[in-house]
Amino acid sequence: MLQEPLFKKLAAKYGKTTAQIVLHWHIQTGNVVIPGSKNPKHIRDNIDLFDFELTDEEMKEISIIRLQQTILHSYKEALEGFLRFHQISKHKNKETNSMKNLVIYYSRKGQNYVNGSIKDLKKGNAEVIAENIQKAVDADLFEVDTLKPYSADYTTCTNEAAEEKRNNARPALKKTLKDISMYDNVFIVGPCWWGTYPMPMFTCLEGLDFTGKNVLPA
Ligand SMILES: Cc1cc2nc3c(=O)[nH]c(=O)nc-3n(C[C@H](O)[C@H](O)[C@H](O)COP(=O)(O)O)c2cc1C
Repeated sequence: MLQEPLFKKLAAKYGKTTAQIVLHWHIQTGNVVIPGSKNPKHIRDNIDLFDFELTDEEMKEISIIRLQQTILHSYKEALEGFLRFHQISKHKNKETNSMKNLVIYYSRKGQNYVNGSIKDLKKGNAEVIAENIQKAVDADLFEVDTLKPYSADYTTCTNEAAEEKRNNARPALKKTLKDISMYDNVFIVGPCWWGTYPMPMFTCLEGLDFTGKNVLPA
């Protein structure tokens, strides 16, 4: 969490550590913070928080990241659900061969954050996950891809995505998925962009009828 690019940017702006930015956000929100440390420098840092103010926009950006943390916590549940499902799916397939699985995913290749630094990924993270699920449950794959590509530059892309989220945009897609009636289980796989799926995922998902489907978000 402390490697989060936004915290690094704000730390550089205010001449603070990323931990101080997080602590200050809590205080400015009105939360009571009780930090603990045995490290004398960290103890000093933990009280050296009162000579700067985050702007409203910065407070909002941090709130979005905190929301995403909550989503991260739910990954454990999602994974458990997936594993439970996987058992059922295998069982059913053996007996009746009747379960049909679909993975709908969005993933962005190219510049991406990996362990705190920007790397050039030949294959996006969500695509790797989608392919693993495909192999595990023998699914069909549908890639959500936008007609207008996002910027190759990571930071520019984050700004484009933030703008789309603010406008609740539904970017046009290269291919439309129309009918999922033949599937029993639908896995939804995508990265976290500003605390939720990228907006093009919603362009795709909103056009589908999920009645009676098992939906497994990842
Ligand atoms: C536009 C954009 C917005 C992002 N927003 C967040 C975010 O709010 N929180 C977060 O932890 N990571 C965020 N990330 C990082 C991605 O979730 C992460 O790099 C993910 O693994 C990308 O998956 P992909 O390679 O399949 O596209 C963002 C990345 C991009 C490009």
